[in-house]
Amino acid sequence: MINITSLSKTFNSKVHAVADFSLHINKGEVISLIGPSGSGKSTVLRCIAGLEQPDKGQILIKGKEINYKSPASQKERTVMGFVFQHFNLFNNMTVLDNLTLAPINVLGKSKQEAEELAMTYLKRVGMADKANEYPAKLSGGQKQRAAIARSLCMQPEIMLFDEPTSALDPEMVKEVLNVIRELISEGLTTVIVTHEMNFAREISDRIGFMENGQLIECNTPEYIFNQTQNQRIRDFLEKVL
Ligand SMILES: Nc1ncnc2c1ncn2[C@@H]1O[C@H](COP(=O)(O)OP(=O)(O)OP(=O)(O)O)[C@@H](O)[C@H]1O
Ligand SMILES: [Mg+2]
Repeated sequence: MINITSLSKTFNSKVHAVADFSLHINKGEVISLIGPSGSGKSTVLRCIAGLEQPDKGQILIKGKEINYKSPASQKERTVMGFVFQHFNLFNNMTVLDNLTLAPINVLGKSKQEAEELAMTYLKRVGMADKANEYPAKLSGGQKQRAAIARSLCMQPEIMLFDEPTSALDPEMVKEVLNVIRELISEGLTTVIVTHEMNFAREISDRIGFMENGQLIECNTPEYIFNQTQNQRIRDFLEKVL
């Protein structure tokens, strides 16, 4: 589903955000990326999503290299949904309008079709009663659930989450993790950057540990948490668990 080979990304020709990162992700697989701040986790996700242009290496989505510069490829990129730490909802639009915008403008759906789809997904995340609210009236957890529903409206085959719960108050983390857990159980290919170690351990097929832009190890949760011989990973987990 996602084939990343020797991906490198440098900022301002000196910061090596990602260095020689390779990872092959199968359909339906759930991969968590963990590691210290600045290790390149978000940059990898942003490259997969086409929000950053890699300097080197190759990313194939379903066997195809997406031309990120071409506006025509915008539709191809809709196989991927991206959920950000800070929700990125448009504050001047209702929840419903946030959800129907891309299906209408990118997928060419009718307003009615898009609204039906939006209501389906709002129900799924427990937000149907907030369809006509503006984001400013929602809690952080509700905003994030709306943002997840917005991604689902594009009917993606791949979901990318970048710290979806780290901007939330502790009591709202659970409701968002529950929504993500449910999506994953339906077989959506998922890459998630998270600091919720217990969650990563529970939901992941594999966990990748990044440091200095490199993927140090990528293996089953059991291996990463209990068997790895890598001292850096052990130290990291000891600190965060
Ligand atoms: N747009 C940018 N311009 C310049 N440097 C950047 C940019 N984006 C990321 N970097 C740098 O690239 C490196 C990797 O950043 P990245 O955001 O991918 O790390 P991260 O693992 O997601 O960290 P965190 O856990 O804090 O979110 C860091 O040194 C960061 O400062
Ligand atoms: Mg990040």
